[in-house]
Amino acid sequence: MLQTQEIETTKGTITNIILSNNQETSVVVSNLGATLLNFKTQDKNGKLQDIVLGFDTIEEYFSNTDTYFGASVGRIANRTETASFSLNGETFQIDKNEGDNNLHSGPNGYQTRVWEVESLDKSINQVTFKLDSPDGDQGYPGHLTLKITYQLTDDNQLKITYQAISDKDTPLSPTNHSYFNLNGHASGSIENHLLQLNASAYTPIKDSTSIPTGQIVNVEGTPFDFRHPKTIGQDINQTFDQLQFASGYDHNLLLDDPNLQTAFATAVGDKTGIKLEAFTNLPGVQFYSGNFLNNHPGKNQASYDKRHGFCLETQFFPNAINTPNFPSPVLKANETNSYQTIYKVSIE
Ligand code: GLA
Repeated sequence: MLQTQEIETTKGTITNIILSNNQETSVVVSNLGATLLNFKTQDKNGKLQDIVLGFDTIEEYFSNTDTYFGASVGRIANRTETASFSLNGETFQIDKNEGDNNLHSGPNGYQTRVWEVESLDKSINQVTFKLDSPDGDQGYPGHLTLKITYQLTDDNQLKITYQAISDKDTPLSPTNHSYFNLNGHASGSIENHLLQLNASAYTPIKDSTSIPTGQIVNVEGTPFDFRHPKTIGQDINQTFDQLQFASGYDHNLLLDDPNLQTAFATAVGDKTGIKLEAFTNLPGVQFYSGNFLNNHPGKNQASYDKRHGFCLETQFFPNAINTPNFPSPVLKANETNSYQTIYKVSIE
């Protein structure tokens, strides 16, 4: 089922879309930022749990530039070193919003914009949002048209599809920045969740700036080895410089086999039995263990503290535009690119 809800804000009318299926699962997405606001599903006792963190009011999403709850991030997710890059012989400067570097494309991120509701398709439970990002927007070249489609299927898959075209070559690495807590958004630490990742390598960071060194390192024998299920907390406090730089996990892992049929990640909430499987055809995932949450006010009077949520941000690798040995995030002029990430829920 698909329903819409109009909300008056200080910046005009916002449209939220509620998609629900015959399994009692539902999501709420908003044309404010093409944001995922709620993701409700039944736990092992049949109780509905909202498994994503978020703000209490829609108004707060206009300034979603700190936690990025549920955000659609673009043009480039993650860090760009020195907030600059060269493309086709030209140098481009973007905003420095994290020291000397850029994080998530700066203060005017796509998650703070009002997107067009381009189409609603009740028969397949799907909504498409569209954003026109002019040449020079955020400092990037080319007029980019980005469409994000959310679809909720009857087998509990939330499919997020990105479709993009630009009139000039431009870097593009969009992501969804939802924080999951499979025990329920207000249930505290995620450290006892089980997690498994089909990722045999990761990109270490230089220091607390979180800029990758450019190396690709095997996870074997490191806390980053989630190839067999273990709790998120098992190794998180190890004395390991990579974890110390970021106060926990906040690193890009290379997916062994990015595809839409085999999950690259499986996580289970220890209290609810809610299982999340994630699929993508993008090459990397930023696994972030919510290290910088600090008693942040959230939905229904919740307070989100350190490690109360985790993100699986599918993307090209951080700083890829400045790192020749990483897969290129460049979208070629007048070519359409399409990426998809699927979050599927069930009961373990
Ligand atoms: C990303 C980054 C983190 C943090 C969050 C937002 O996941 O990798 O370091 O900045 O966004 O708080």
